[in-house]
Amino acid sequence: MSHIPGTKTEENLHSAFAGESMANRKYLFFAKIARQLGNEEIAKLFEETAHQETGHAFAHLELMYPPADLTVEKLLEIAIEGELYETNQMYPGFEQTAREEGRLDAVAEFQEQGKESAEHADVFLQAAKRFKALGLVERYHATRYEKALDKVKNSSEKSEQSPDQLKQSA
Ligand SMILES: [Fe+2]
Ligand SMILES: [Fe+2]
Repeated sequence: MSHIPGTKTEENLHSAFAGESMANRKYLFFAKIARQLGNEEIAKLFEETAHQETGHAFAHLELMYPPADLTVEKLLEIAIEGELYETNQMYPGFEQTAREEGRLDAVAEFQEQGKESAEHADVFLQAAKRFKALGLVERYHATRYEKALDKVKNSSEKSEQSPDQLKQSA
């Protein structure tokens, strides 16, 4: 079966993958809470179901990223692109909204996780270089990723503000 980006089914696979992945993490979190609340049986039920949700998410991934089309180089590229999207677009946008809504707890969390996404992008980029996974064509991407990461580093140095400073700039 061919993999056609831009189709409604491709979009639905993405949503279904997101939903199943969220269910997995949510049930693991619920298991932790149920255990803290002293209900081991329900904790185990959530853990078992979480495991099945991983299977469901993987089934969608098989269709989104057909293994026959993948190389280590592509895996690293997809991962770097995703982490850069989080650090450059997703978290800064979420941070801005949280600041506008006075959710300083969320501002701090989005900043922190945006930084961690940049670290992950860097770890994957260094791994790609180490394993020479980035070939000639991909050197272009490597340079682009490095520039994007430098930009993040510079802006995060500037944006390391205390909650008081955040309140003033809100
Ligand atoms: Fe499911
Ligand atoms: Fe990450």
